[in-house]
Amino acid sequence: MRIVVGADHAGVSARVHLVSWLRRRGHEVFEVGAPTAMAYDYPLAADQAVAKIRAGAAEYGVLICGTGIGMAIRANRYIGIRAANCTDVLMARAARSHNHANVLCLGARTLEEENQEAILESFLNTDEDQDPRHERRVEELDHPMPGMQAVRS
Ligand code: RB5
Repeated sequence: MRIVVGADHAGVSARVHLVSWLRRRGHEVFEVGAPTAMAYDYPLAADQAVAKIRAGAAEYGVLICGTGIGMAIRANRYIGIRAANCTDVLMARAARSHNHANVLCLGARTLEEENQEAILESFLNTDEDQDPRHERRVEELDHPMPGMQAVRS
């Protein structure tokens, strides 16, 4: 699979580890965001990953910051992006299966390396559940209530 992996300064070393983990498994990986552990704003890293996905260059994104929270908030501003901040394998499975998540957010400061790997593996190995109830709900995500400000397109 083609996967874009983004990090802010807090996620740089986790990115190094997960990128090599992904490449060993044969994935094509793009790295975006912080080049070093110098302070780097997570919205910028999330934007770069979203741009890759929306351009069709990557099917999935992995976004790593201190907690995964800021990355998820930012990435979910964009139509077509379904970013899930997961802290265990069950959440990763449900994010793919029920929410058709295309971006996994991880916390470098909240998860051990082996948990990050297990969550990523679970995310990549789970297919979207095509049951009409899930399809309908996922479709609803990109259609805000009439009159409400939409997320950025
Ligand atoms: C950076 O200190 C930290 O705020 C960031 O990595 C992230 O946890 C934000 O959600």
